[in-house]
Amino acid sequence: MTRNLKGKIAVITGGASGIGQAFAHRLAQDGADIAFADVKDGAETCRLVEAEGRRVYAGLCDVTKPDEVACFAAEVETALGAADILVNNVGIFPLRPFDELSFEEWRQLQAINVDSFFLFSKAFVPAMKKKGQGRIVNMSSTTFWLNIEHYVAYITSKAAAIGFTRGLANELGPFGITVNAIAPSLVKNATTEASALAGMFDVMASMQAIKRVQVPADLVGTLSFLVSDDAAFITGQTIVVDGGVIKH
Ligand SMILES: NC(=O)c1ccc[n+]([C@@H]2O[C@H](COP(=O)([O-])OP(=O)(O)OC[C@H]3O[C@@H](n4cnc5c(N)ncnc54)[C@H](O)[C@@H]3O)[C@@H](O)[C@H]2O)c1
Repeated sequence: MTRNLKGKIAVITGGASGIGQAFAHRLAQDGADIAFADVKDGAETCRLVEAEGRRVYAGLCDVTKPDEVACFAAEVETALGAADILVNNVGIFPLRPFDELSFEEWRQLQAINVDSFFLFSKAFVPAMKKKGQGRIVNMSSTTFWLNIEHYVAYITSKAAAIGFTRGLANELGPFGITVNAIAPSLVKNATTEASALAGMFDVMASMQAIKRVQVPADLVGTLSFLVSDDAAFITGQTIVVDGGVIKH
């Protein structure tokens, strides 16, 4: 099932690969034009979006750099128009024991996983306010609730994603802008397959009610719903999409 996002413009951070690419593809199938920011070449994402007959803008942008984010936002407005949807998807998730974690590594992770949410929201909320409507979705993670070692920097950042979602929802509700978060479990993609996390796919699947490994396609329907008109009265929420490990 696809939803009617025709005429909407969606901005996705970290859209060149992984979950961000799957998000770009799905929102394009729903009818939205797509802009995405990444440090990597986004040719494949562009191909997927254009194959759906939608416009796409790929910006080479380090999401931790305020000047690059401001430049990207101006280019999106010129190329596609004012954004309706912002998906703060970008994130890194290196495993590192606390004893070995340097302050530089900690700062870099928080800059990508948390500061970028602030910078992109700052850049795109004014246009949403002018339109009197908008949708922001932030990526969190079920690691916030699980006993996983060597992840203190990452878990801290994903707790911040939930706090940011709640705080911003309070401020933007009066303007018709909803702010929600999605918390996946371990998702199989190129990054996780190439990391130490690959050894945890089967363990995670065995903990789930639905006993198979999660893939990016399992997340796109939730995003599509949260940015649709059907979700106009849902805000400040974190939706867990994990095959049934964490149950609220
Ligand atoms: N994969 C998982 O198991 C999993 C589980 C829970 C939550 N998440 C969250 O989902 C989101 C996406 O994860 P993913 O698995 O698709 O990651 P990924 O590594 O596959 O993709 C991340 C993208 O972000 C880009 N990126 C990294 N640093 C950047 C920077 N400074 N500026 C611009 N772009 C940058 C990368 O080039 C890449 O294209 C992240 O927030 C992650 O924490 C992932």
